Amino acid sequence: MKWEIVDDYEALSISGAHRLLAALDANPRIVLGLPTGKTPEGMYARVVRECGVSRHCFEEVTTFNLDEYVGLAPDHPSSYATYMRKHLFDHVDIDPANINLPDGLAARIGEEDPRHGNEEALLRECRRYEQAIARAGGLQLTFLGLGTNGHIAFNEPGTPFDARTRVVELTESTKAANAPYFRDQTPPDRAITMGIATILDSREIVLLASGEKKRAAVERLRGGEVTTDFPASALHHHPRVTVIVDRSAAGD
Ligand code: GLP
Repeated sequence: MKWEIVDDYEALSISGAHRLLAALDANPRIVLGLPTGKTPEGMYARVVRECGVSRHCFEEVTTFNLDEYVGLAPDHPSSYATYMRKHLFDHVDIDPANINLPDGLAARIGEEDPRHGNEEALLRECRRYEQAIARAGGLQLTFLGLGTNGHIAFNEPGTPFDARTRVVELTESTKAANAPYFRDQTPPDRAITMGIATILDSREIVLLASGEKKRAAVERLRGGEVTTDFPASALHHHPRVTVIVDRSAAGD
């Protein structure tokens, strides 16, 4: 695991954007794993500024988002689909056919069977997502944020490292952390998330962490102990991980 400690959030955003843009230059047909949350917003803003709609940065790129809330339509203001359009997709030349997010409304597909249909449809959606990643040739570069409890994507503490895309219950602390994104409702109780094994299959991984709130989690990651109590520690098993942190998250 390589560590890059930068001065502040702006430097973190610049560094993340440089890595993303360099990867697009090296392979215009790259398959990306992309995160949501406050942390990558600055990185996306830089990428948008660099690419604009005039440059053909994303023309042949394929993206897979890490996760989506169960029950939210893609046009719901707090869905991750909306987040991605707002921060990236609406501003670059990506082909909508190459954008992938888990379908938060997949449960509706089985409504004809009120007992089992919804849950089975959700499971099918998880399998479909995992297969779509495989069909695209696998993730080549995946960006991650870091939950204060060490979660990556929505893989909460206790997640086995061999977990794949599946439906998860969100912890109270994760729901509280994401509550500011929900104006008129509390965050949903569940999400579809790539699993830790799905993420670890990515050829390269960049994790971003910024701000004092992440300091304890960053310190634990730096400590090096590998435990399912701290999902991000699974990254120690991966040969090509870079962690970019700013000084307030690094604590030095
Ligand atoms: C959410 C997302 C994660 C993200 C985390 C941290 O739970 N599902 O993918 O890494 O929040 O978000 P933030 O960057 O806002 O601290």
